[in-house]
Amino acid sequence: MILRLSDFRFPDSGARLFPENPDGDVVLEIGFGDGRFWAEQGPLEPGVNYLGVELSGVSLLKAQRRLRAAGLGNAHLTKMPAMTLLRGVVAPRSLSRIVVNFPDPWPKAGHEEHRLLREEFFELAASRLREGGEVWITTDHEEYFGFALEHAARTQAFEALEASPPAAALRTKYALKWQELGLMVNHARLRVTRHPNVSGLDVQNEGENVPHAIVTLPPDFHLGDFEKTVARTPAFTVVLLDAFRHATRDQWALLAHVEERDLTQEALVSVTRREDGSSLVRLERFGGPIVTPGLKGAVEAVTTLLEGRGATVSHRAY
Ligand SMILES: C[S@@+](CC[C@H](N)C(=O)[O-])C[C@H]1O[C@@H](n2cnc3c(N)ncnc32)[C@H](O)[C@@H]1O
Repeated sequence: MILRLSDFRFPDSGARLFPENPDGDVVLEIGFGDGRFWAEQGPLEPGVNYLGVELSGVSLLKAQRRLRAAGLGNAHLTKMPAMTLLRGVVAPRSLSRIVVNFPDPWPKAGHEEHRLLREEFFELAASRLREGGEVWITTDHEEYFGFALEHAARTQAFEALEASPPAAALRTKYALKWQELGLMVNHARLRVTRHPNVSGLDVQNEGENVPHAIVTLPPDFHLGDFEKTVARTPAFTVVLLDAFRHATRDQWALLAHVEERDLTQEALVSVTRREDGSSLVRLERFGGPIVTPGLKGAVEAVTTLLEGRGATVSHRAY
């Protein structure tokens, strides 16, 4: 099944995500591409639940078709950055394995910061693996392989095991591509020996109030001369990109782009005139936003913008 960010809890549990096999091990594959690895490995591990994370939407659909054809029902795929899933969704000490096959090597000088397999990743991975859990890395890229092992070693949270790559990792799309070119495949298995404490995403629980404010707009209020506005704090950046007026109602919607550590969201903040003459500023549910400090910051940024246009604020709940 394909799951969106808003389909998850923060953190989530294997028992909730896989109710038909609640006690099964959970394997996470990062960057599954067209899904060939698990289509081949999954049938060898029938009691295992699979969670796959990818950045590419096209890959997501291809992988879904492949896993369905292989009859693998206990598999969930999601489209988001791996660090977002690991930090926000995956509970501490919950995964039995993290698999990374042929990660993007970012080979150009100065591009290492884009690499996934850095110290921060291994620290987070160690916190999310359960006792005895492992990271499996397979790559053709010699230099990135050394880089990744060095970054893993820095955490002092893993021991390296001797192992050959699983056959399925040698038959992924990229495995075949690099082997055709005669490149060697490197494989590492790192077993966790220490579980660092790495906190998750700060997400508001379901049932709590949607962030909002109540304001009184000046007479003849309009947002016609709206310009892009940026609000920055150490924890997040909010960019109010545009403002739209409702076709028939006395209502505006502001489009916010919100960047936080490991999480970027686009959200709508609406301003709606109420019967008593005041206006409600609030985060819209459209798009399934995850209510984080950054999204509360977006409601605050809109409220501040309105104050700058002469509005008075009688209530803030963000
Ligand atoms: C070189 S391809 C390998 C695909 C597949 N594992 C294979 O062996 O054929 C790397 C994949 O990782 C995905 N990817 C890169 N960075 C990612 C991230 N931060 N989170 C999730 N997926 C990522 C890319 O979209 C791409 O599909």
